[in-house]
Amino acid sequence: VSLQGMNTLAVPASARYLVDIEEPGQLGEALSWAREHEQSVLILGGGSNQVFSGDYPGLVIRMVLRGRSWEQVDDQGAVLLLKAGENWHEAVLYAARSGYRGIENLALIPGTAGAAPVQNIGAYGTELCDCLESVTALDRATLELKTLSASECGFGYRDSLFKRRAGQYVILEIRLRLSRTAPLNIGYRDLQDYFGDADPTSLTPLEVAEGVMAVRRRKLPDPAVLPNAGSFFKNPVVPHEQFLALRERFPDVVSYPVEEGVKLAAAWLIDQAGWKGFRNTTVGVHNRQALVLINHSGGTGQDILALAADVRQSVLDKFGVELEMEPGIVGKA
Ligand code: EPU
Repeated sequence: VSLQGMNTLAVPASARYLVDIEEPGQLGEALSWAREHEQSVLILGGGSNQVFSGDYPGLVIRMVLRGRSWEQVDDQGAVLLLKAGENWHEAVLYAARSGYRGIENLALIPGTAGAAPVQNIGAYGTELCDCLESVTALDRATLELKTLSASECGFGYRDSLFKRRAGQYVILEIRLRLSRTAPLNIGYRDLQDYFGDADPTSLTPLEVAEGVMAVRRRKLPDPAVLPNAGSFFKNPVVPHEQFLALRERFPDVVSYPVEEGVKLAAAWLIDQAGWKGFRNTTVGVHNRQALVLINHSGGTGQDILALAADVRQSVLDKFGVELEMEPGIVGKA
């Protein structure tokens, strides 16, 4: 079965077997089948954060189960339940149109609700973990359902228990705590520029979502037009001393203080290393956001990974900073 239409980098790859999960009960059956037939299992959502470096020799399980509902509604807020296969961006618009705040800054992020906790999606000053109430997942070893609270999910920057222990859980649904009254956050530089001196208390969550969409469309390529997997590297965090030494040599380095040290803008490092807009015969670096790798024409996962390795090496040579890849690799690295 071809996976080319199931990954946003649109690289060619195939799976030996593929099954779509539309009801929670089908998941246990599929996992049991794989165990009986000694097939490895790959769980796939929207395929927007995966690089297929070759064919998948086992069973790909695609989480397409849909459904959303409101729970615990009171004057202040409510919990929005999303089944794993719900499209993330549609859920953001649905919440914002319903007057609920909390996820409007995460508009236009590709992928599914079930994949959102895995890399703790984040943008414009908001991370999923800020409003995540709980995740219900199937434990693959015991085939038992488990509900994990946000603190049990071990969230970090583009990180979670689900990412660190890939293969332990399959996420079936997530719950988000949203509010009718929480303040809207338009403090991120790009949003400030977009909204000018608008008073955030006069804005609706839908207006903020629309602002985020406009900002993203200016910089980030639409995977349907230019196949990509969003930011290809994490923004690296370096110790304070290393940052000071770096700033001596590169006074313009873009950085943000964080608890563990200083976070550097990987896009700036890659841009300064001369990669922005680079392209070879198949793949390249986006010309408006250097953190995004593009499959221009018929590139394979190997082509993308080769380019990523060159980018990484040149950033290491120039700045002495190691970039960590953000998407997962399926197959040989
Ligand atoms: N910059 C450059 N060259 C570029 C692009 C950016 O020098 O080509 C510099 C600019 O100075 C800019 C800074 O880098 O101020 C940061 O750029 P930007 O605001 O676009 O954000 P980012 O750090 O590159 C992160 C997330 C994005 C998210 C944006 C907005 C990561 C790995 N990426 O990008 O997430 O949308 O912030 O919050 O943290 C994703 O994960 O797929 C993703 C798109």
